[in-house]
Parts: sequence; structure tokens; C-alpha cells
Amino acid sequence: MQPHDHSPLDDFIEFPEQDMLSRSTDFLSTMRRRHSVRQFSDRPVDRAVIENCILTAGTAPSGANHQPWHFAAIHSSSVKKKIRQQAEAHERGFYEGRAGQQWLDDLKPLGTDANKPYLELAPWLIAVFSQKSGEAEAGEKRQNYYVHESVGIAVGMLITALHNAGLATLTHTPKPMNFLTEVCQRPDNERAYMLIVAGYPADNATVPAHARQKKGLDEIASFL
Ligand SMILES: Cc1cc2nc3c(=O)[nH]c(=O)nc-3n(C[C@H](O)[C@H](O)[C@H](O)COP(=O)(O)O)c2cc1C
Repeated sequence: MQPHDHSPLDDFIEFPEQDMLSRSTDFLSTMRRRHSVRQFSDRPVDRAVIENCILTAGTAPSGANHQPWHFAAIHSSSVKKKIRQQAEAHERGFYEGRAGQQWLDDLKPLGTDANKPYLELAPWLIAVFSQKSGEAEAGEKRQNYYVHESVGIAVGMLITALHNAGLATLTHTPKPMNFLTEVCQRPDNERAYMLIVAGYPADNATVPAHARQKKGLDEIASFL
């Protein structure tokens, strides 16, 4: 295929109108069952499932289709241990004052603190990296566009794919996050963007009441 070629859109599926409504309603109920989970079981999860979810994230739209992301899927106990140790060290500073009172007050209803045992317990951590620039073929730098937006969309699709596969997730953003670059041995053009914890929830997992409160349609949408 030549770079400027186009091919027919031959994989679009049109559903009957009544099916569209029921499909969108069903998907809404599926997604309403997604919750950030902070108590994980150590039950193993097949790597093939994680691979499919990462491939799903990789189908995301991106500025000029440069796909400015990398997903480091971590299963190794020793790497997870390192991540937990470094994340907890940073989080202690955060909860002991660096966050500022307003942020700490806003986090209170979620009941989070500096202890992150799930970083070792959960079978998979997926560290997501954004690429400010990419490698062109001759080894020169290639400009990427709308990096933050593109990676954000890909992470949303990753979380949705993991949930759809039957896994619980947590979006975790240790602050600062740059230690992940070294732990995951990522190159200089990448920045740690987010850490996704994935696995089965622990039997006693809970969801904060605050997190269940989602804004209604009239609060988040307008139709013109
Ligand atoms: C960008 C981002 C960063 C987050 N960082 C953390 C985090 O570091 N630790 C944590 O426990 N939860 C974190 N969360 C999860 C939020 O607290 C959670 O999404 C919110 O309370 C709503 O709950 P829900 O995901 O169950 O709908 C983060 C979420 C987002 C989108």
C-alpha cells in the first residue's frame, strides 16, 4: 500500500435503529459497573487478556496517527515491589503535606492514603508512557501531536477493555511519576503518564459512596 492510498470502509457494521438504542443502554449499564478498586486479589490473570486490552488501547485515534504511547505491562514481583516502594515513598510526602489541604480534603471521601499494597498484590500493573516525540526511520526525532489528548483516549479505551474483559482496575497517578521511566527502562523521549492496576477485586473490596455519585445528563451535556 502506498502512503496516500485509501481503502473502502468495509468493516463498519450498521445496526437496526432499535438495536442501537438497546446496545447503547446495555453498554451504559456495563460501564456503570466500572469502579476504581483499591483492594485486589492476587489471583493470576492470563497475559493474553492483558495483551488484547493493550491492543484495544492501541486502536485509539491519535494526532496524525502517530500513536504516541507505550504500555509497559508488569507482572514481575520484583519490579512490582520496586514500584510499590517508590510510589509509597512519594505518596508519603504527598499525604504529609505536599498535596496541600484542599486536595487532601477532596480525597478524604475516597479514604485513600500512602499505603498501596495493591501495587504488589494485583497480578498486573500497566505503566502508560506518552511520547513527546517518536523515532523516525532514520533515527531522527519525529514530532508528535496532541500527545496528552491521544494518550488520554488510549488509556480510557484500555480501562474500558479491561473492564469489559471482567477485570477490576485502578487509575493510579503517584506524584511525581518519573521513577517509572527508570524502573520500566523507558527511553528519554517518554514520560510516565499513568499507572493502571488490573486484576480481580479482593473478596472484601469496597467502593466509596462518593465515587458512585455521577453527574446526570443535564449536568454534563447540552443539546443545541
Ligand atoms: C487522572 C486520574 C488520576 C487518579 N489517581 C488516583 C490515584 O493516584 N489514586 C487513587 O486511589 N485513585 C486515583 N484515581 C481514581 C479516582 O479517585 C476515581 O476515578 C474517582 O474517585 C471516581 O471513582 P470511579 O473510578 O470508581 O468512578 C485517579 C483517577 C484519574 C482519572
